[in-house]
Amino acid sequence: MSELREIPVLIARKRDGGELTGDEVRALIAAYLADDVDDAQMAALLMAGVIRGFTDAEAIALTEALVASGDTVDLSGLAGPTVDKHSTGGVADTTTLVVGPILAALGAQVAKLSGRGLGHTGGTLDKLEAIPGFRVDRTTGEVAEQVGRIGLAVAAATADLVPADKRLYALRDVTATVASPALIASSVMSKKLAGGARHILLDVKTGAGAFLPRRQDAVALAELCVAIGTAHGRSTGALVTDMSEPLGDAVGNALEVAAAVDVLRGRERGNLGVLSRQLASAALQLTGVAPADADGRVAEALDSGAALERFRQLVVAQGGDPAVADEPWAVLPVAPVRREWCAPAGTVTGFACQRLGELAARLGAGRQRQGDALDLAVGLEVLVRTGQVCDGSQPTVRVHARREQDAEQVLAELPEVVHLGEGPADPPPLVQARVGLPAG
Ligand code: URA
Repeated sequence: MSELREIPVLIARKRDGGELTGDEVRALIAAYLADDVDDAQMAALLMAGVIRGFTDAEAIALTEALVASGDTVDLSGLAGPTVDKHSTGGVADTTTLVVGPILAALGAQVAKLSGRGLGHTGGTLDKLEAIPGFRVDRTTGEVAEQVGRIGLAVAAATADLVPADKRLYALRDVTATVASPALIASSVMSKKLAGGARHILLDVKTGAGAFLPRRQDAVALAELCVAIGTAHGRSTGALVTDMSEPLGDAVGNALEVAAAVDVLRGRERGNLGVLSRQLASAALQLTGVAPADADGRVAEALDSGAALERFRQLVVAQGGDPAVADEPWAVLPVAPVRREWCAPAGTVTGFACQRLGELAARLGAGRQRQGDALDLAVGLEVLVRTGQVCDGSQPTVRVHARREQDAEQVLAELPEVVHLGEGPADPPPLVQARVGLPAG
């Protein structure tokens, strides 16, 4: 596709519900990277596909084209099963900081290339940077060396890993073209395939706080990701999990690190502990390490302190202050303003979960624009869960802010974000589907 004038023909075909061939998809991505296709053309094509839908064959071809745009990590020299875990993005979702250490403590090799916060969702790299000294920029060689030594590394994907996804993602972010199963699957799976792990576990979110809120879209995304991973010889499985309410009770970078340490020390912290255990178990089943007694081994890693010890080793290996594993609030940044909101009497029937993430971002925990500096101390603690009865006097949300006026603005919006009703309300099921995994 060296001829730029052919591009409108492809856009028109997608607009009219047609399919692109694998060769066309590959040529299109190569041309986009070479600046022979401009952003306007690519955005038009993406929007046509978001509305009309991409086929699985297009998603597979796109994944391959994205992987081929850059380097791949070679983990073949590592002893022990290599495993990667990825969430499609959530609110108060800090499971990586718990699951990685559990798996490493049980003999798996976890090379986790993570991202930064995106929209209303938090990012593992931002959270880790709340730990004084922690460095997320590692070369691929450093990642492999560290994983070989302690079983775990969590680092930023280098610029030359899947560069086409970086460009496409930035474009999708500003053109309302994120919400497509095929585009999310190819974006996620290209990074997982390039990351080199043989076993890939996906946590696909569904509900009001997810990029694809409808359950059927989330299941379709999980199935597509598993099909792509399997077609590339990786053992791949997915859990489709609830994101209609925040997973844990902390939203914000330092707050979420402290929550993860609490779970590693044996507390549940909302559903954060419950889901972390289930994800670690599912990953163990994929790797074949203790498939029959995965739950028991996960409990052992937590109860014995072995997982907490791996977390400490991770922090030391990447330059952070290991005291975070013992007394998180002795080293994590603390917001100067703390205010509480008490909901009126009633039953919590649900949350505007995306808005909770947006409110935390507005306090400074997330970016409003690419490249914004974050305030790692600020955020929210959500002290109730769906189905809980409030008596009108108990703290419902605690706001951690830099300035009084920031806290005031958020407090004013909270009544619209926590939904209250009269009758009983059932908490949503946490794990809603399993794809490519034995029954749970
Ligand atoms: N996470 C990604 O890496 N890509 C997407 O498209 C959505 C979530």
